[in-house]
Amino acid sequence: MCGIVGIVGTAPVAGRLVDALKRLEYRGYDSAGVATIHDGVMDRRRAEGKLFNLEKRLDSEPLPGTVGIAHTRWATHGIPNETNAHPHFVEGVAVVHNGIIENFSELRDELTEEGSVFQTQTDTEVVAHLMAKYLREGLEPRDAMLKMVNRVTGAYALAVMLKAHPGTIMAARSGPPLAVGYGRGEMFLGSDAIALSPFTNEISYLVDGDCAVLTCDGVSVLDFAGKPVKRARQISQATAYVVDKGNHRHFMEKEIYEQPEVISHALSHYVDFAENTIGANAAAIDFKAATGLAISACGTAYLAGLVGKYWFERYARLPVEIDVASEFRYREMPLSPSQAALFISQSGETADTLASLRYCRDNGLKIGAVVNVRESTIARESDAVFPIMAGPEIGVASTKAFTCQLAVLAALAIGAGKARGTVSADEERALVRHLAEMPRIMSRVLNLIQPQMESLSRELSKCKDVLYLGRGTSFPLAMEGALKLKEISYIHAEGYAAGELKHGPIALIDENMPVIVIAPYDRFFEKTVSNMQEVAARGGRIIFITDEAGAAASKLPTTATIALPVVDEIIAPMIFSLPIQLLAYHTAVFMGTDVDQPRNLAKSVTVE
Ligand code: F6R
Repeated sequence: MCGIVGIVGTAPVAGRLVDALKRLEYRGYDSAGVATIHDGVMDRRRAEGKLFNLEKRLDSEPLPGTVGIAHTRWATHGIPNETNAHPHFVEGVAVVHNGIIENFSELRDELTEEGSVFQTQTDTEVVAHLMAKYLREGLEPRDAMLKMVNRVTGAYALAVMLKAHPGTIMAARSGPPLAVGYGRGEMFLGSDAIALSPFTNEISYLVDGDCAVLTCDGVSVLDFAGKPVKRARQISQATAYVVDKGNHRHFMEKEIYEQPEVISHALSHYVDFAENTIGANAAAIDFKAATGLAISACGTAYLAGLVGKYWFERYARLPVEIDVASEFRYREMPLSPSQAALFISQSGETADTLASLRYCRDNGLKIGAVVNVRESTIARESDAVFPIMAGPEIGVASTKAFTCQLAVLAALAIGAGKARGTVSADEERALVRHLAEMPRIMSRVLNLIQPQMESLSRELSKCKDVLYLGRGTSFPLAMEGALKLKEISYIHAEGYAAGELKHGPIALIDENMPVIVIAPYDRFFEKTVSNMQEVAARGGRIIFITDEAGAAASKLPTTATIALPVVDEIIAPMIFSLPIQLLAYHTAVFMGTDVDQPRNLAKSVTVE
């Protein structure tokens, strides 16, 4: 989604606002803009496309001023052009917005009838017009802001700047995240702590229904009724992170190669490597007493949850109900307070996942959050937080967050099995030993397969459609492989349970259709090989991702066989993620797409 920042400062702000936007560019990137006030003049620069275009614009037309707001946009209402780029200006009011104003068309009709003239196709412009109207009517800025937030409905994080009050920025939150940062004689506002990390690590998170008034001297926070409220100051960990590509061409590549390291961070949070046991951090939810487990998430995080379902059912004998959050939230499924629920989200801000969480909370379930951003809304609204410790993931296509989510879910499932008496102490030790091998095996695999992945990707980049097949935990991986490929290379791809092949997708098989089969030498291997036979019999081109034992056992002709080291079933999904990530990455590089910021996508989806 969009990212917003603001500074009420003592030194020029335009450059610093753009620096902060760079850290938010992962949220949206179809246009960007910055506005400042200087010597009684409120002015702005906006540019369509990447932030780089805005930077060029500011180089040729600098913006002075020590107070300003800025925005990077991911279009919801209105095409991504300069006119629709934020900040929006109406009669001395400047507004930046992340989210959706749901009643915007009704408000626009009403305001148009009263004489307001709209310049853009955005929903955001109604906010600027409402503010202008209330100020014209003589309300004080704070009261105009409160009246405005009580008129608009929907999900929004807003920052408002007024030409007539140059020492103040006002903000409001109803849905998407917003953080206030405390500096020395300066105050900051941002969509997340990463944006503010170059300026300060002392922050407060606004909660839904908060309005904030920032001046150089501090911040006052009010609820939407105007009653003052206090929001705790905390030290953000975001400053510790360096958001930088290092020696890599893309963040995605860097994040793929970071996996051995971040997986070890994730594991060490849940595993006692000295004792080879699952530690107390995995027991923050009482899985023993639970009669069932509900899991919900979106996209890649949902596919991690689907792998988790296999584990919780197998190791903890805990029945799992799982659905994508956009369906889960509306299914009105019967739930009982004796069940536990897990919500998986890299950002911790995904609107549908949050709504599913709230549905479960209203039904009395104990809530666990498997998140990367520990200070996120999903984390804060949960009974227990299970951090995945992946560090900031900037590439829009999720890679290291996926494998860290898997690692955490594996630890939780083993821990749940131990608590429920379905995993013995010996089994626990054996499983934990396998988890502990993962970082080393991941490093080895990344080095081993890189050249083969690159040459295979050259072939894949010429294809129009690709099919991925797998069984057991390799089925969600097949879907993840297809999702990764389509989102960054724009090649159409589908992931299927291998057993479903003959129920439809087999009609697609011909010599032009590569079929990527994910099949470690496990208890499903023989069955998957029969499905491969069905593909081979129809002239399909098979790319076989297996292990050394599987490569030796299968006699079928393939276009390529990728033979990974033989690993235990519990870590296979993380190890087999590596070839599918690298295949997608190199294919996208060959196609020349924007790997880190693929078209139409956003990193953090804070609207429904
Ligand atoms: C795909 C991808 C998305 C996200 C999804 C959920 O590579 O990254 O499918 O997984 O938008 O986002 P989070 O995990 O932030 O809730």
